[in-house]
Amino acid sequence: MRTLTDIPQDSSRNRRQATARDGGAAGSARAHESAIKHVTGRAAYIDDIAAPADAVHIALGLSPVAHGRLTRLDLEKVKAAPGVVDVITIVDVPGHTDIGPVFPGDPIFVDDEISYVGQCLFAVAATSHKAARLAVKEAIVEIDEQPASLDPVAAAERGEFVRPTHVQESGDWQQALDGAPHVLESEQFVGGQEHFYLEGQACLVTPTEDEGVMVYTSNQHPSETQKLVAEVLDIPFHAVTVEMRRMGGGFGGKETQASPWACIAAIIARRTGRPARIRLPRAEDMRVTGKRHPFHNRYRLGFDDEGVLLGGDITVIGNCGYSPDLSEAIVDRAMFHADNAYSLGQARVTGHRARTHTASNTAFRGFGGPQGMMIIEAAMDDIARRIGEDPLTVRKRNLYRPGRDVTHYGQQVEQLDLLHDIVAQLEQSSDYWARRQAIANFNARSPVIKKGLALTPVKFGISFTAKHLNQAGALLHVYTDGSVMINHGGTEMGQGLHTKVCQVVARELGLDLERVRITATRTDKVPNTSPTAASSGADLNGQAARDAASQIRERLFDFAAEHFFKDQGGLDREGMRLENGALVVGHGSDVKRIPWGELVQAAYLGRISLSAKGFYSTPLIHYDRETGKGRPFYYYAHGAAVSEVSVDTLSGEYQLTRADILHDVGDSLNPAIDIGQIEGGFIQGMGWLTSEELKWNEAGRLVSDGPATYKIPAFGDLPPVFNVALMQGHPNSQASIYRSKAVGEPPFMLGMSVWSALRDALASLTGYRESPRLDTPATPERVLMAAEALRQRQMTTTNVEETSDDLV
Ligand code: MTE
Ligand code: HPA
Ligand code: MOS
Repeated sequence: MRTLTDIPQDSSRNRRQATARDGGAAGSARAHESAIKHVTGRAAYIDDIAAPADAVHIALGLSPVAHGRLTRLDLEKVKAAPGVVDVITIVDVPGHTDIGPVFPGDPIFVDDEISYVGQCLFAVAATSHKAARLAVKEAIVEIDEQPASLDPVAAAERGEFVRPTHVQESGDWQQALDGAPHVLESEQFVGGQEHFYLEGQACLVTPTEDEGVMVYTSNQHPSETQKLVAEVLDIPFHAVTVEMRRMGGGFGGKETQASPWACIAAIIARRTGRPARIRLPRAEDMRVTGKRHPFHNRYRLGFDDEGVLLGGDITVIGNCGYSPDLSEAIVDRAMFHADNAYSLGQARVTGHRARTHTASNTAFRGFGGPQGMMIIEAAMDDIARRIGEDPLTVRKRNLYRPGRDVTHYGQQVEQLDLLHDIVAQLEQSSDYWARRQAIANFNARSPVIKKGLALTPVKFGISFTAKHLNQAGALLHVYTDGSVMINHGGTEMGQGLHTKVCQVVARELGLDLERVRITATRTDKVPNTSPTAASSGADLNGQAARDAASQIRERLFDFAAEHFFKDQGGLDREGMRLENGALVVGHGSDVKRIPWGELVQAAYLGRISLSAKGFYSTPLIHYDRETGKGRPFYYYAHGAAVSEVSVDTLSGEYQLTRADILHDVGDSLNPAIDIGQIEGGFIQGMGWLTSEELKWNEAGRLVSDGPATYKIPAFGDLPPVFNVALMQGHPNSQASIYRSKAVGEPPFMLGMSVWSALRDALASLTGYRESPRLDTPATPERVLMAAEALRQRQMTTTNVEETSDDLV
């Protein structure tokens, strides 16, 4: 057992050192706005909201088969079960029955076609959660079962897609392949991932006056839930209010997939006139909701003697499950990231969206980007082995650079030096080359335990690729005691967005953070909002809040110029500033200060509006899906990680023994929170690629449906040496909020260094001449099988080749 104090180089030290004693405005390290509430259990989540005594509890009747036709649904015994108040199916839906978020395809309840195990057939409302769950078992369900399609590659070959195939092409890739001195091809399977948010899907709906509803939901996209609830109830949007204070984690799993539960609860609340609450049991949550898309990727790439890419062909197939959900944009993002940080040369990238009979796969931190990047990181390792160079050398040669600075979708990469600087600094600080030598020496003497080392970079595009989503609104009130209330369209899921937005307001108004309070996200305060996703929450809502705050500031300046020191000819409007809780004019002995509280009081009496709404939309971005060209991203966020692993090649067990990260957040809005996002993202990325294995049986039923069978990283999986630092001295080259950069998703992909280090350890079994195929998650079983396969091949080739020292 390890304890906290055993972690000698824990990066929380960096976090503490970053904590400055100042007013807490944007740019300074401050604890999460709810940190104390989180750790004392006083932070309220959906199930903590007290509902009136007459509230009903909902349980769902789910399909036990993956594909078929519903031939009989007899719910008489369900209706008669103790405590049951209402039972509904598709015929009881007053309005729309399709709740597909972007494209149609998601029926709220099965009509007759069943598309996956766990699809909703009916819902029961009862006086207790237990009564509702027991009643569900009384249903008589008959299904004409049909064969389930579970293999995405076979589905793609049959042309079974949820959305059309998209292609991005730059130059003559075929000619680049034909003329290349070396060509390699390979394929990989990249696994999916369960979100495993600590708070599962949950919702409480109360009926309101007239025909309306009030919806409390754990949700990344309140406005979309408002729309869908209104549509299923067949009432106007203004009759639905959605409130969202905080989520116990979302990670993309509540961007679209929090809505169905709200819709079901809303129908029941309206029918019964009683508050209705729903909370999915963990196993149901895991079966019913979509996950990160598993991908099948292939490459055929040409390169020169130095290992520099000349061009080629990449195909990615996303396993979308039964419906489109967000898969169009997710596979697009995989394609946008098939280059990661490297110029592909003349390349074609093709993305397929395969339809299978599983839950509809959805957003998950990185949104397809991680799955796309995996193919090119595999290629970097493979090329290095082919030409006999260290993988880091090959990666560095392929980084975007002057002359090779345009992506396969036509976006110019700016800040070209940044990634080179990050890699160079990290190479130094992690002592890469000395450790490489030490590991080579160790492996030569150690027949069973093999160590591996890898540095992988990340370049991640920031902006929603659906252009219209790149907008945000905010609402700011100043009350007469000088306290400030800010509200915006973003949602808090633990990432620290509310803390950052408060810091922005504090900085604009020259106030201590304590004077600024944020309230729950509500569709009746800021309307028509985008999901909090694509890592852009702080970029978009921070700018909108800044816009609102600067309107108030300008109004106060106008007022103060007229109102104060009239006998001395008034105040100089141009020299005014808000700092340290006061309006300040002039300098030195001539300085005049009007305390914030006094200023606000006077403005109120002077009948000045102390409320403002702010708005922001991201400039410059565009993408033409017809030509596959454009500038979909406002900017890129960068980073790099070095991971070292130790692998037992006779059991497949391994440990991450050290990780070093250098990450680019521009000029950080809050270094403490950013470091936390980097640590968490990296570990979650490592979990995706190593221990988190989704298993379905032949009938399409998810069997890894709880923490006993699905292994997320635990405390003991943290590397004993974990150095996380923020890249200094590189403000965002674009005018983002205070030149900061988005941080939510990019560090997730730093976890690829762990996977690459495992491949490096395995490659040592071949004297670094071969690169093993290592599908993900690279569980100990997969690592062992890869080691066995390499040993087998070595046995058959040692007769003709020199014996390697490394052979066991
Ligand atoms: N961090 C925590 N603690 N919990 C979360 O659910 N979600 C991630 C990331 N970091 C998440 C998180 C995802 S998927 C995204 S898109 C961003 O946070 C969203 O928040 P932001 O845009 O404010 O960074
Ligand atoms: N990222 C995350 N969520 C999204 C996106 C995106 O690019 N587009 C639509 N939802
Ligand atoms: Mo994050 S996957 O964009 O919610």
